[in-house]
Amino acid sequence: MTAYLNGQFLPLEEARISPLDRGFLFADGAYEVIPVYRRRPFLLDSHLARLQRTLAGIALPNPHTAGEWNELLQRVIADSAFADQALYLQVTRGADGKRDHAFPSAVSPTVFICSTALVAPSAAQREFGVAARRAVDNRWLRCDLKTVSLLANVLLRQQAIDAGCAEAILLRDGLLTEGSSSNVFVVKDGVLATPLRDHRILAGITRDLVLELAAQHRMPCEVRDISDAELRSADELWLTSSTREVLPITSLDGQPVGTGRPGPVARQMYDWYRANREQATSGADV
Ligand code: PDD
Repeated sequence: MTAYLNGQFLPLEEARISPLDRGFLFADGAYEVIPVYRRRPFLLDSHLARLQRTLAGIALPNPHTAGEWNELLQRVIADSAFADQALYLQVTRGADGKRDHAFPSAVSPTVFICSTALVAPSAAQREFGVAARRAVDNRWLRCDLKTVSLLANVLLRQQAIDAGCAEAILLRDGLLTEGSSSNVFVVKDGVLATPLRDHRILAGITRDLVLELAAQHRMPCEVRDISDAELRSADELWLTSSTREVLPITSLDGQPVGTGRPGPVARQMYDWYRANREQATSGADV
């Protein structure tokens, strides 16, 4: 598997970074996960735009233009053994020869790209949905930035897995925020709702597409605060992310969500989502 590290394409197992890298010492860096179908990245421009917003938010100059990113990513995609991939990129504030919280004076970022096989939801998860549990959102207040500082997300996800669930659904001050690595949608009486896009959540690329598809097809949809009570009494719950797409949550804290089976609104949205994805990534396998 070919990776890219600081100007070099090389086998992933040969890639080395300094233990003084600020990504390693301080989680001082940004990342993106981009789904690739038939070797075509899906919604790449949106991911690169979000990367730019994250880098600006952590005062780290973007080391590459969109054109340069495109070239580097395409080369890693082409060298992969898999047609459908989860493409990963990370930019950190580099290594400075010492451990110091303050930024180094001359920033030389570390740029890393690799790609693995895309692990999409299983047929059983699509048919029956997944279980989730609620948890207190104890992350920092810049969840809009896609940084590698993910320890809180990791712990929340592991607690969910230990409880037999696929995702932790997070609440801050009694309001729904998002999942540990996904956005969340609620359906009640045929109306779709999802939390506001602000510092409390990541502006998911999949979330944006779902909102766009709802608007395009005139599906009633609200972007607003969602209470714990609304979460617990929803007819349908879904999580969305680049790798899990639109996936129904059919049990919450051991209780069935709605009928306990994926609902009709989720099925409709997933069909629209898949059609959009197929159209955007169709063409010969290259
Ligand atoms: N995570 N919220 C959080 C906290 C996330 O980590 C993610 C994605 C999302 C969904 O964003 P998008 O639709 O752009 O993938 C929301 C990625 C997949 C990850 O960390 O692996």
